[in-house]
Amino acid sequence: MCGIFGVTGTAKTAADNVFAGLKNLEYRGYDSWGVALRDTEGIQITKQVGKISEGTMEGSDAYEAVGHSRWATHGGVTLDNSHPHRVGGVVVVHNGIFENYLSYKTKLEDEIDFKSETDSEVIAALLHIEIQNGSSPQEALTHVSSLIEGRFAILVMFDSMPGIWAVRRGSPLILGRGGEQTYIASDIPAFLEMTNVVNYLDDNQMAYLHGVEVDFWDLLTGEEIEKRNIEVEWDIESADKGEHPHFMIKEILEQKETIARAINQDKEQIDAFTTALKKAGGIYIIGCGTAHKAAMATEYFFAQIAGKKVNVVAASEVESFKTFIRPNTALVCISQSGETADIMEVVEYAESVDATVLSITNVASSSLARASTVALPVKVGPEKAVASTKATTGQITIGFLLAHAYADTFTKGLGILLGAAANINDMINPRYEEHIESVAKKFKDTENLFIIGRASLYPIALEAAIKIQEVSYIHAQGFAAGELKHGPIALIEEGTPCIVLGDDQETISNATELKSRGAVIIGISTTEQPVFDHWLRVPDAELAQPLVSIIPIQILSYHFALLRGHDPDMPRNLAKSVTVK
Ligand code: G6P
Repeated sequence: MCGIFGVTGTAKTAADNVFAGLKNLEYRGYDSWGVALRDTEGIQITKQVGKISEGTMEGSDAYEAVGHSRWATHGGVTLDNSHPHRVGGVVVVHNGIFENYLSYKTKLEDEIDFKSETDSEVIAALLHIEIQNGSSPQEALTHVSSLIEGRFAILVMFDSMPGIWAVRRGSPLILGRGGEQTYIASDIPAFLEMTNVVNYLDDNQMAYLHGVEVDFWDLLTGEEIEKRNIEVEWDIESADKGEHPHFMIKEILEQKETIARAINQDKEQIDAFTTALKKAGGIYIIGCGTAHKAAMATEYFFAQIAGKKVNVVAASEVESFKTFIRPNTALVCISQSGETADIMEVVEYAESVDATVLSITNVASSSLARASTVALPVKVGPEKAVASTKATTGQITIGFLLAHAYADTFTKGLGILLGAAANINDMINPRYEEHIESVAKKFKDTENLFIIGRASLYPIALEAAIKIQEVSYIHAQGFAAGELKHGPIALIEEGTPCIVLGDDQETISNATELKSRGAVIIGISTTEQPVFDHWLRVPDAELAQPLVSIIPIQILSYHFALLRGHDPDMPRNLAKSVTVK
């Protein structure tokens, strides 16, 4: 949530680089943006409401700059609420939430003329007071960080001395070490075009970037620490839209190859993962949003393939089940970004009780991957569109593979997945997309849309609803096929579109019940059925059917978004990486 990026060094391109690099973090938030740059005149701030990709910034000779792309939490989308925030000689950009900020804001209101409604400005105010009272930047940051409850990452510039200070607790910050410049960002893509050599800042650590040098301290002990330079493997090209109008469609089409990449796991890692699962007294699989639906699909795979009951809980709901996370529990975290706050909070709890943390994540360098005993990489490359597509199928693929590994039928699972990947490759073609677009045109003005699925297609019905909602803003809801008649069927009227996943007899009976009440049926299945008014064919993938069934819905959602005039890559109110609770 919120992208932050800072650059120091000898080259006078810091502000230009921050402005360019921040665009690569826009998926973290795109309500407003701002840059603070330091040149010979001092620190100057530019802010604009709206997307940074649509913004403009004048050129400058800055050798240091910090920038921020905002997803509003405290205070609406206004220029005053945009970052950076300046109080006295202190300029701050902040990602995260200062949960107890109000108590400090109230105390300081007589002393400070607050310009915004944000929690972030209170951090700047507290730092300003510390500096006024004679603290050094390091002392001020150490003390103020200890006052903040909640997860955060901040970058700070002081009028009184050059350089950028950074502190992290709970929200990611990664340094990029280049030649003439040093970078610090909430995500690697901000500086990937400049360098792939990184240092990870861990929780409760502070960094001071001055020129191309960086000093690191442990925030709690005050001791200086050394950091190792690590080379990361990221493919710049795959973070680019290429010839496609949007990342979403590019990423949907990439599934022709990405599923095969996800299948191609290191067998030793898979074995280590399953050994940990087999040793565990209980297995909890957690995730948020789409990843939670991939977790649910995995729950079905374990039941159907391995005869093993696993527990699936949305990460934000784990609190009620915490007592069941014990030293012999295996916690499996599914997360595209590996930074989602709700997940990281459970991970921290699991670590505190010595439970085993395992993960399936697309960002091998993420906080989650680094906290895991075994982290299986989803390997689909950077996913930029807010609506998850290729990461979803990558996660489902690995869930399926793990269920087979657990059942000691790994090779069989591999065979099914390879067959599905080949069929998906054939399925995704321009004619298929045109057909789905023609269906989207028929239903683009609908207010409601329902999706039903049975067994492992039930989580896909839920995921289908998320996909349609988030980019088209149509009210879409997914149900277990048999559950629809226990209430929601009252919502069906003449012409209500209903998507039916699967062609098994019971689901077709449910589709018939819907049709008798006026519903128009869009079937997604391997065979065409008389009850279908429209049919989107998918190949037979045996028990891996969830994998193939979500793809036509992704394409449908994309076309709904375009036909309704929305930006599919940056839907309203959403962000890709949710690092606040
Ligand atoms: C946000 C994104 C979703 C994603 C969820 C979990 O809500 O918009 O697409 O599924 O976060 O993110 P994660 O990175 O943990 O998979």
